Amino acid sequence: MSTHPAKSARLTVPQFVARKTEGKRLTVLTAYDYPMARLIDEAGIDAILVGDTLSMVVQGHDSTIPVTLDEMIYHAKMVTRAVTNALVIVDMPFPSNLLGVHEAIRNAGRILKETGAQAVKLEGGADQAEVISGLVNAGIPVMAHIGLRPQLVHQMGGYKVQRDHERLMNDAQAAADAGAFSIVLECIPQEYAAEITKMIPIPTIGIGAGTSCDGQVLVLHDMLGLTSGHVPRFVKQYAGIGESITNAVRQYCEDVQKGEFPGPEHSFR
Ligand code: KIV
Repeated sequence: MSTHPAKSARLTVPQFVARKTEGKRLTVLTAYDYPMARLIDEAGIDAILVGDTLSMVVQGHDSTIPVTLDEMIYHAKMVTRAVTNALVIVDMPFPSNLLGVHEAIRNAGRILKETGAQAVKLEGGADQAEVISGLVNAGIPVMAHIGLRPQLVHQMGGYKVQRDHERLMNDAQAAADAGAFSIVLECIPQEYAAEITKMIPIPTIGIGAGTSCDGQVLVLHDMLGLTSGHVPRFVKQYAGIGESITNAVRQYCEDVQKGEFPGPEHSFR
């Protein structure tokens, strides 16, 4: 038996980071299951984030707080089974990175070990610097997430653009200094995102942070038109899949009720 199993062709963390100096913008989308992950991987996305937005867009909660570590792992396994090209990053759900460095390593270690993902993401900057460096020293690549931090929704009193310049700069620098390989900038003024992108050597991935970031991320269900209700300003909807599904199901019900489905071509003799 070979001691060298076939290498994955997935984008690696160092290749992801190198894109900044190569000047090639990074594309990131969320995915939470096998069929969607397969489709977006085949379409050429650079990285797939198994985001804790799973809690909202798949599980139907009104925040990202309820999703558990076991549920994140369950969904991340479906994603990694489907992906052959993209880097796979998994969110650390609340409060799996907030219970000290030891516990964070245990939880992030489970994510890498049980799912086959290559990196974790956690919400935090300066406040999480110790955890980020602990994880990195344990060999676990970390993407930080600053600006609007949805896990702090109750403390922030809603989902709002974050404008504290000093705090944003400190958070970005602290996360980079602690060894994060990349930082998500969520809902911050575009000039601040441009300043951070120039200031730190690692890729910035924007969501509601303007065009100067090294890459962009969106929640897949938002950009495909699969979510209902309010669509945030920073989302561009590239498809109306939700409407297509409703129309297809209405047509199916009508066909069955009228006796037009199944037709002879769907039946056996
Ligand atoms: O959980 C998630 O989907 C995210 C993105 C919005 C960046 O953190």
